[in-house]
Amino acid sequence: MISNPKSCPFLSQLGEVKNLLYPRLQHVVQNATSHERLQQAMLHGIQGSGKFIRPFLTLTFARCAGIDWTPAVMDTAIAIELLHSYSLIHDDLPSLDNADLRRGLPSCWKAFDEATAILAGDALIPLAYEVLATLETSADKRLSLITEFSKAVGAHGMAAGQMMDLFPTDNLEAIRQMQLLKTGALLSFSCIAGIILGDGVHSALLNQARQFGLNLGLIYQITDDLLSEQGTAVDTGKPVNNDQHKITFISVLGIEGATHLLNQLLTEAHDIAAKFKVNAPLHSLLHFLTVRTF
Ligand code: IPE
Ligand code: IPE
Ligand code: MG
Ligand code: MG
Repeated sequence: MISNPKSCPFLSQLGEVKNLLYPRLQHVVQNATSHERLQQAMLHGIQGSGKFIRPFLTLTFARCAGIDWTPAVMDTAIAIELLHSYSLIHDDLPSLDNADLRRGLPSCWKAFDEATAILAGDALIPLAYEVLATLETSADKRLSLITEFSKAVGAHGMAAGQMMDLFPTDNLEAIRQMQLLKTGALLSFSCIAGIILGDGVHSALLNQARQFGLNLGLIYQITDDLLSEQGTAVDTGKPVNNDQHKITFISVLGIEGATHLLNQLLTEAHDIAAKFKVNAPLHSLLHFLTVRTF
């Protein structure tokens, strides 16, 4: 399943998004604190081979909703990347996944120390909210984004998914729920954020964007777990076979069963993507996920 990624032209699209947003992301972190060590640890958390898939989704769905890459759209994408970076810093901690490599670099706790990594993660969360709270858009849109963001990353979303990952239940529905919360919730927010920022929010469009993001979460996590089994640390930039005790679609369905489910989810996601005005980048993203090595 996982082959020939470097020839995927979609990588240059992701690269363009990263080139566009990274300087501003760095600027936001640099201006957040004058505490040298905290700033360095936060900067470390945003560095490396991050793919910028979530920002790519926000920018793409904003275009689906009829707006271009305004400062509000770009800053929303930056807020999401800040939050995502915190989630990876904490995910790698010894008390969670105990991973020493992230995005091709020593994980934050390895590069600094555990307490610093906890605080760098802690500091990235309110920074993400601050960026959303000061967006150049209407107060209604800011409130709506902050409310949805809170649901996606807190106890209704990612935090609950991470708990389920730590204390798993060995059945398919529970695994599905865990992956939807752990990974799907923020991906889904990344999609709907673009729609919320658009002109006149249509609930049908919002629901389709939400559904696309949730499907993507399942697809993403299956391909991530396949890479954990079949990939290399050099390619993925993170440890492989580090999560062997974890309960995943692969541990329950086997590689063949998980690949079959992946193909079903991909068909559904391509069908949902086809409903959007700007759908070529979404189809390309889905294709990329099946060939990626990192
Ligand atoms: C990794 O996400 C964590 C998961 C939710 C599976 P990404 O693979 O999007 O991480 P980066 O940002 O590209 O490093
Ligand atoms: C990370 O999931 C999910 C979050 C950080 C919310 P994983 O633990 O499965 O992903 P990797 O393999 O460390 O990127
Ligand atoms: Mg984890
Ligand atoms: Mg992990």
